[in-house]
Amino acid sequence: MTQPATARRLKFEIFRFNPEDENSEPHIDSFEIDETPFMSLYIALNRIREVHDPGLQFDFACRSAICGSCGMMVNGRPALACRTLTSDLPEDIQLYPLPAFKLIGDLSVDTGTWFRGMAERTEAWIHERQPFDPEAEEERMSDDIAAAIYEGDRCIECGCCVASCGVANLDPEFLAGAGLNRVARFMMDPRDQRSDAEWFEVVAGDEGVFGCVGMMACADVCPKELPLLEVYAYLRRKTLGARFMARNTKKKSA
Ligand code: SF4
Ligand code: SF4
Ligand code: FES
Repeated sequence: MTQPATARRLKFEIFRFNPEDENSEPHIDSFEIDETPFMSLYIALNRIREVHDPGLQFDFACRSAICGSCGMMVNGRPALACRTLTSDLPEDIQLYPLPAFKLIGDLSVDTGTWFRGMAERTEAWIHERQPFDPEAEEERMSDDIAAAIYEGDRCIECGCCVASCGVANLDPEFLAGAGLNRVARFMMDPRDQRSDAEWFEVVAGDEGVFGCVGMMACADVCPKELPLLEVYAYLRRKTLGARFMARNTKKKSA
């Protein structure tokens, strides 16, 4: 948050490419602007668009780390542009779109398709097995469980963890930090009555928690600082427990 005593001249190198335009070739454009106090990358990019190139594409909505739409590679690291201050960066700033997602143009990517696919593969909704009873009393939930579920729901689907993940970049089906966090959120919800065997299908295997190599780049870049290490430990414990129980049951019945 420190601000320089004298204004700097910031030099941006920005990836440009419009996949919809057959004449467009991927290349880098350079722009220079004067830094202003408490300038975020959101402000800097708007300044570049105002004074240099109105065609520059990038995404923003909330400008306050809530909507998750402004993720991009900032000097080689996924980050939210709206919460990144230029004063925390050197004068030379390189901006690229997040990898692992379909490019829309320049710095704009389609995270929605990835997140929708992940939600469909994991069936990220409450699986209630009881028939609906309009007379039934409201189910109670402990404060601890409610807090744990709320913690998982803080994910803003920015895609930074996915972009940082080597496995997700190689395998588009890999659930990555956001997907594994989503599974854990429903797994710990007592209203979701999926069986251990059903959860095993969702989260075990190479596309799930056992495909994760555990170097935790995802946790390093998560702007909401979600406790992803704890999430993976929880999923491994639950999944191995389910497998152990299934084996024991088989042995006993043999
Ligand atoms: S710890 Fe797992 S999910 Fe996170 S970046 Fe590494 S491989 Fe991806
Ligand atoms: S887990 Fe963190 S980095 Fe990943 S999508 Fe959610 S908020 Fe973004
Ligand atoms: S603009 Fe919404 S998170 Fe950055």
